[in-house]
Amino acid sequence: MKLAIFASGQGSNFSAIVKAIKDGKIKVGLVVLVCDKPEARVISRAKKAKTAVILVKREDFSGRAEFEAAIIQRLKSYKIGLICLAGFMRMLSPGFVRKYHNRIMNIHPSLLPAFKGSHAIKDALDAAVPFTGVTVHFVDEEMDHGPVILQQKVRITSKDTLASLEKRIHSVEHKLYPRAIRFFCEGKIKVRGRKVEISNP
Ligand code: GAR
Repeated sequence: MKLAIFASGQGSNFSAIVKAIKDGKIKVGLVVLVCDKPEARVISRAKKAKTAVILVKREDFSGRAEFEAAIIQRLKSYKIGLICLAGFMRMLSPGFVRKYHNRIMNIHPSLLPAFKGSHAIKDALDAAVPFTGVTVHFVDEEMDHGPVILQQKVRITSKDTLASLEKRIHSVEHKLYPRAIRFFCEGKIKVRGRKVEISNP
């Protein structure tokens, strides 16, 4: 199984997946990083991990269709079986999602459907809810939406700051994402409509 990671930011999830592969916890070949931000820290992490990088800047293309066509074209030779979005802050078009139907996962720092969007941790803190969490899900045409694979709760305490909550959420993410990838690679995930079934987790 060949894996591509799409990321635009720090890349801590990228590194957690690299480590899980190195430790033999997931049998997958991480063959390429797709990144849309030349300044993103994830690029240096990919170079360190000796992973190929496809850098595609949205502003170099006249529209989303051209941008995505360039990604698809450049991914072709890798024969990708799974795409993991790890802080890739762009919506993929319905056409792209259809092409990799139920083969694109996303990680999101909330218990979806609560707190969609790019400030989910701060939004949960501001809302003063007792729990937030992490969701790994298959990607569909809507933002932070699609069949849920795994979710884990994270408690919010009265002492939490954005930094402390972010830290706990990230450490949950770094375990949950490799776990979801492992289930996928082991063929344990079945999607029935909007429901995910995992056999012998
Ligand atoms: C992660 O917390 C991920 O859940 C979030 O971006 C962060 C990327 O961190 N994704 C979303 O908010 C998607 N809507 P990283 O670059 O350190 O892996």
